[in-house]
Amino acid sequence: MGPWAAPSNSVTFARSVSYGDANAENMAFFGDNLDALGSLRPRFEGAVRCAYLDPPYNTGRQFAEYTDRLSPSDWVSMMAPRLEAIRPLIADDGTVFLQIDDTELASLQLLADAIFGRDNRVSTITLVRSAGTGHKAINRGPVNVTDFILVYAKCKSQWRPNALTCPRSRYDDAYTLFVPNRDASPEQWRFLRLEAHVATTLGHKTARAAKLALGISAFEAHKQAFALAHAGQVVRFAQPRYEAVGREFQRFIDRSRGEPEGVLVLKRAGNKDVLLRGGDRILTLADKVEQHNGAPTLVEPLTNVWNDIPFQGIAREGGVTFVRNKKPERLIERILRMATDEGDWVIDPFVGSGTTAAVAHKMGRRWIGIERGDEQFFEMCVPRLQRVVEGRDLTGISRAVKWGGGGGFSVMGST
Ligand SMILES: C[S@@+](CC[C@H](N)C(=O)[O-])C[C@H]1O[C@@H](n2cnc3c(N)ncnc32)[C@H](O)[C@@H]1O
Repeated sequence: MGPWAAPSNSVTFARSVSYGDANAENMAFFGDNLDALGSLRPRFEGAVRCAYLDPPYNTGRQFAEYTDRLSPSDWVSMMAPRLEAIRPLIADDGTVFLQIDDTELASLQLLADAIFGRDNRVSTITLVRSAGTGHKAINRGPVNVTDFILVYAKCKSQWRPNALTCPRSRYDDAYTLFVPNRDASPEQWRFLRLEAHVATTLGHKTARAAKLALGISAFEAHKQAFALAHAGQVVRFAQPRYEAVGREFQRFIDRSRGEPEGVLVLKRAGNKDVLLRGGDRILTLADKVEQHNGAPTLVEPLTNVWNDIPFQGIAREGGVTFVRNKKPERLIERILRMATDEGDWVIDPFVGSGTTAAVAHKMGRRWIGIERGDEQFFEMCVPRLQRVVEGRDLTGISRAVKWGGGGGFSVMGST
């Protein structure tokens, strides 16, 4: 424990009212999070799979609901004991997400490195919130459009996040080959130029002729549609990193280099077969295609730049207005998809209008939310969660997860 205020053990919380299923374990705490976290420790030590913290950013602003103005050192003194109090609650395979803007980013990172361990910092996500347009465009100098999310594993060696992907904005030009006889055994595969094959299917002799006749963008659109529809037959070659693979794989590469025309198959128990030709690995486009909104879509692994989650248009999400503070449900959905599974416990000690709780609820996670602001708690968070339980919240991720209501929660107040 650092030289900061410790959680108070003298404040106890009790259920004051519950909504929906009286047996539901979810809890919305009204009060200071340091007290609430202290009271949670006996029951939740090591039990929480994911903590998401969206604290006041220390912007110097006076919001309608609260004042966001502390000296830099007071802000650190406010955050430190809260991070200290969160840490013991996190499961060994759990994750902590800390959202912030650039005002206190550096201080928060130093503090969180000290508390969670620098080696457990697994990512710094840059979150694009807006664009350099509108009234922001009058600023001199770079227009500030980002927040950041510091991601810490409780214990990096045990951290196994769910792998996430996101749609690619354009075709992956590395996939240039088409295997017309994919059902034959790999040794007999033929490799055609994808563009040439697509041109033929469109009645043109060559890709060049097709591009001239249709225009480049129309031809590209045909090629992409064809590739998606035949993704199991569209492939590329990729050179394996010889020095990074095991001895068995190296021998396999050597053999393939010695027989450059044939396709060799390496069978691996519990893993996909590896296909090599001339020492190069054969990768199939189908491995990069997922169903998105019912349509096959090219995807790529999620990176640490998140610029695809709109912050515009969320003003009415959850049926609550919390200007400049409320976060998009889709952001929390992504975080929970990455770091949790159904039934896991999620905690948000700065829950504000209840976004994290609402999303966790709709995704079948168990949740704890803590908020000390009267207006945020009683006029936003609790009514929002009631609507979620009753199936009356059709905003945010409700449609995407086919949310129809159910479950319940208790409101916990200090005694
Ligand atoms: C940035 S807002 C969170 C917004 C939230 N993510 C949402 O989507 O609505 C920060 C919230 O933390 C609350 N807060 C600040 N200090 C707190 C404390 N010590 N205990 C509990 N809540 C606190 C504020 O009242 C405010 O509502």
